[in-house]
Amino acid sequence: MTDVHPAWLPPEAFRAIGSRRTLVLGDGPLVETVRAEVAQACARYDGTVAAPGDEADLVLALTTATPLPPAAQALLDEPADAASGAATGAASGTASGAASGAASGAVGGLGDEGYVLARLGGVTVVLADAPAGLLYGLFHVVRLGEQAFGADRPARAHRPAMRRRMLDHWDNIDVHPVMGQVERGYSGGSIFWRDGAAAGDLTRVRAYARLLAATGVNAISVNNVNVHATEAHLLTDRLGDVAAIADAVRPYGIRVHLSVNFASPIALGGLATADPLDEDVRAWWAATTERVYATIPDFGGYVVKADSEGQPGPFAYGRTHADGANLLAGVLAPYGGVVHWRAFVYNHRQDWRDRSTDRARAAFDHFAPLDGQFHDNAIVQVKHGPLDFQTREPVSPVIAAMPATRLAVELQVTQEYTGQQRHVCYLAPMWREVLGFRPWGQDGPDVAALATGGQAVSRSLADGGRPADGGGLADGGGLVAVSNVGDDRYWTGHPLAQANLYAFGRLAWVPGLDPTALLDEWIGLTFAAGPDREALGRTLHEMMDGSWRTYERYTAPLGVGFMVRPGHHYGPDVDGYEYTPWGTYHFADRDGVGVDRTRATGTGYTGQYPQPWSEVYESLDTCPDELLLFFHHVPYGHVLQSGSTVIQHIYDTHFAGAEQAAQTRLRWEKAEGLVDPALWARVKERLDEQVRSAEEWRDQVNAYFFRKSGVPDAHGRRIH
Ligand code: GCU
Repeated sequence: MTDVHPAWLPPEAFRAIGSRRTLVLGDGPLVETVRAEVAQACARYDGTVAAPGDEADLVLALTTATPLPPAAQALLDEPADAASGAATGAASGTASGAASGAASGAVGGLGDEGYVLARLGGVTVVLADAPAGLLYGLFHVVRLGEQAFGADRPARAHRPAMRRRMLDHWDNIDVHPVMGQVERGYSGGSIFWRDGAAAGDLTRVRAYARLLAATGVNAISVNNVNVHATEAHLLTDRLGDVAAIADAVRPYGIRVHLSVNFASPIALGGLATADPLDEDVRAWWAATTERVYATIPDFGGYVVKADSEGQPGPFAYGRTHADGANLLAGVLAPYGGVVHWRAFVYNHRQDWRDRSTDRARAAFDHFAPLDGQFHDNAIVQVKHGPLDFQTREPVSPVIAAMPATRLAVELQVTQEYTGQQRHVCYLAPMWREVLGFRPWGQDGPDVAALATGGQAVSRSLADGGRPADGGGLADGGGLVAVSNVGDDRYWTGHPLAQANLYAFGRLAWVPGLDPTALLDEWIGLTFAAGPDREALGRTLHEMMDGSWRTYERYTAPLGVGFMVRPGHHYGPDVDGYEYTPWGTYHFADRDGVGVDRTRATGTGYTGQYPQPWSEVYESLDTCPDELLLFFHHVPYGHVLQSGSTVIQHIYDTHFAGAEQAAQTRLRWEKAEGLVDPALWARVKERLDEQVRSAEEWRDQVNAYFFRKSGVPDAHGRRIH
């Protein structure tokens, strides 16, 4: 571990706490974690772990601890409404800033994970009803640093918007011949598995759990959603490996989930069928699940990719996805477990000549009719866009189509289609747009509210909202993302990609956080020590704030998506998927480009949205430029809302994007000396590749469209 980068928890981030007197009050394993963190910081910075009765600068206490020191008792006794409306840090009233449940006073209703933070009479106090809250409160103080010990601050309650904040690892035990140890992994091998076995030393896993807890993540799944033969055994004879991981992450409030193969009753149980309505199948899952909980009592549940890209599923038996999900939900329910059932279901063996089949429609077509049929502990996990984590996609219409189902929204932290951790691409601005999208227009709830569910939706519906029309609102399934971590010394290959992991956890806790402020937080912690932090902060903002849009400029234009090299998905290949069975086409010809997904003349996909979006996307006059080619097939001369033509927009953005990549590298070159030389060199090496790749994208995309259209660049720049 000595050679592993501390990411956002370098020792320096604990200086403010470590150099003071801190009292920790309460019992339980997570309180012990808090105590150990404080003790470690104090050992380094000469502070004191105070004993009850001692003076303290910081008190971290469970509300049940007695006796509380005066400052903590005063906070506990504060009248109701002292901290009322205390949301988690963003505009309340919208789900993006929603805290779950209203505080009945400064302290009260904090729940399993919430805490209240105040500074009174020179003492900083964190109170929590439950140990996990104390842990999250500690990390809040870490984030504040010296600021936590300045002027008095009023009591403020903090609770996570999402109950489940989860990272999925697409890690294989065996090295897959094509996908490697980690599917879509760009950070070395797996931290859990190595060459067919468990990693053994779990130091790295513990450190990971600590980093995640500091962002607010509370769940991980430890194997790939494509469950191959070896990995299927994690459910049965290799369960001990999963239990070992659960032991390692438990001290940081993280529960372990497992991806399972829907055909396990056949592959592992020797049954002739995996039919979800078969009694023997149900009995097999029930017995297997009972063993799982006997081994891992706080096991989180199963993740399932079924009938998707070759994975087995209920369709083989003429059953629905609700039948499949409910089978597993039923056996998990007695233990409080959940099944995350993925909605990523489409025909990946499509005939490219068939223009009536639209992959973007598939998830809605399969799942929307099943709304209301899923058990309470079945969470339908929906990718944020209808296709597959492209640089720009509209929000999936499934998210608005299932008000009576627990929905989780799935993001992709690993940069499969956004530069594979070789390009700088800070994704929080994209996620923020997704979470803030309001499927029913300005008066309706946003995506964050729908993932939060229940109360948050009703609160933000105030009146006139649509989901309640259909009856009861389900509790939300939370936010899930595919992790970008591996056994790389910087965790994420590209050191700056750590910011994406950090931002994901924080947005799952407070979906309304501003991406720029979030980046500030990450920079402040990660580069807590260093010669000129302000200059470094400026440089990093210049490099990262707009990096997603820069990436968008030099890659596939106007929301059309893909155009990547098939298989590994890195770098440009405009026609790479055009004549394949995957359903991801752009239909460029000599006259125009884009996919007609209108109701009037296309695939009808726009009809999957409620108003106003159904109409906004349908009409060429109102469809946003950045999604134009996702929804419409238009001539190259079509004039965008920006005033430019489609073809000129393609040229302009590709020249500009590649130029911006070069600027990004220049900025980093000037920052040499402001960070550790090895980290600087790693980022520089990645930037060299980004600049090369951005030029390649620019030249291939521009050449392709120039050759198709014959339209010259208005500025006469060089197109090959
Ligand atoms: C994408 C990705 C696959 C992954 C799949 C999924 O298609 O390329 O590697 O398995 O998404 O989300 O299941």
